[in-house]
Amino acid sequence: MAKTVSPPELALSGRPPGRGLAGWLYSELRSAILTGRLTRGTRLPASRDFARLHGIARGTVVAVFERLQAEGYVSSRVGRGTWVNHEMLRTAAPHAAGAAPEFARRIIAGYARPKALRGLAATPPRPFQMGKPALAEFPARVWARLAARRARRLGAWLRLADDGRGYRPLREALAQHLGLTRGIHCHPDQVSLVSGTQQALDVLARFLVQPGEPVWMEDPGYFGAAVALQNAGAQLVPVPVDREGLSVAQGLEQLARPRGIYLTPAHQFPLGVAMSAARRLQVLEIASRVGAFIIEDDYDSEFRFEGRPLPALQSLDRGSTVILVGTFSKTLFPALRMGYVVMPSSLTDYFLAFQHRTQLCSVHLDQSILCDFIVEGHLGRHIRRMRNLYAGRLACLAESARRQLAGLLEIDAVRAGLYTAAYLENGMTSADAERAAFALEVDALALDRFTFKREDPRGLLLGFAAFDEKSLRQGVIQLAQALEPRTARRR
Ligand SMILES: Cc1ncc(COP(=O)(O)O)c(C=O)c1O
Repeated sequence: MAKTVSPPELALSGRPPGRGLAGWLYSELRSAILTGRLTRGTRLPASRDFARLHGIARGTVVAVFERLQAEGYVSSRVGRGTWVNHEMLRTAAPHAAGAAPEFARRIIAGYARPKALRGLAATPPRPFQMGKPALAEFPARVWARLAARRARRLGAWLRLADDGRGYRPLREALAQHLGLTRGIHCHPDQVSLVSGTQQALDVLARFLVQPGEPVWMEDPGYFGAAVALQNAGAQLVPVPVDREGLSVAQGLEQLARPRGIYLTPAHQFPLGVAMSAARRLQVLEIASRVGAFIIEDDYDSEFRFEGRPLPALQSLDRGSTVILVGTFSKTLFPALRMGYVVMPSSLTDYFLAFQHRTQLCSVHLDQSILCDFIVEGHLGRHIRRMRNLYAGRLACLAESARRQLAGLLEIDAVRAGLYTAAYLENGMTSADAERAAFALEVDALALDRFTFKREDPRGLLLGFAAFDEKSLRQGVIQLAQALEPRTARRR
């Protein structure tokens, strides 16, 4: 196990009057271990350093270490020091609300998990879990080589002053990449780096929305955007999505003058449809006319498996209404937490000023590695390779579904993205189907987790990108069992 060294100046609370030195030190260290301040594997400072720092006789420190060792909290070996042995007591549930102070009780009472995430527990990766690319296919060696090269030359570039938008050469590379792949003409100053879409949505909502202002939201739609907009006080106006994307006509019927519009035009989340050209023009015209902003969430547009790649909505925008948000969570890996915002040029300086008051992006090593990864062509290569792989995986899923799921579930015709919508044909609601699938160890999220006002679309979301063809076929067999009316009724 890796051992971390605990700093000798481990903070100890003051010794109560009348309390013996050894007893006090013992209970301080024991409680640091039990509460997880000192985690398993952490090396305790040498008894001599510890004694000197805290003004205690070394003999007392040694006696306390020995007592902790006798009780199993720490281990020690001559020449290797003393390290924490005990797993922190895992208090699975957070502190009970009753024990929390008044302000914390208010927060706990007001906290609601988004419907999309409610009741979901972490499971090991299994078909058809959403959200992940094929992590095993990530060119980790290339990344490591670029990282090592950057780390060797760490220094000058890292100390370069940055204006808060992130590593400039990466912003330049991104501006160029987006020009080639998304048809976007932008200056690197329009690009700000963020830690993924969620941070972008949070900052943008606070930047763009005043409390009470109405924002059109796709229904069903992305809960992450809904939460960010609501946090900023927006009044969400859910607008139904059909085969052409957000229904502009229905939006106008509900509220003719929105202040903002949130869209996933390339691959609507969660239904998967691409916004038609006619709708794109309509929505741009309305935004210009009523003075609304559009947030274009371009989260997985790189993965289209048939037809021509669709340019970004922002590339058609003549009125400077569209703010594009992109992420590397799908093209590379979600833990990288790297994304970007492309602002219309009229707002660039104001957005930067806003960032100065809220969150400035640091320049960090990952940004420089990603920059090399793009400039040296690895990103393009990886995307092309994944596009082929995912197209094959989706074809395999669709084919096994045709054979095993006829009359139960139909995979949607859209061929794009890392997941697909599928529609129930066995009369089940999406929540019942999700429950039945979970019971047979298949993760298939109910489409009605993502609705705001509209009726249950009676479907499931199936993630396929992260699973090989054998697992997909096996998953389909299990799903067929779960959705089979007789099996479902027995449960
Ligand atoms: C619509 C949508 N936008 C963005 C993201 C990615 O978010 P992030 O960049 O915060 O990982 C997802 C992830 O599933 C998504 O579904």
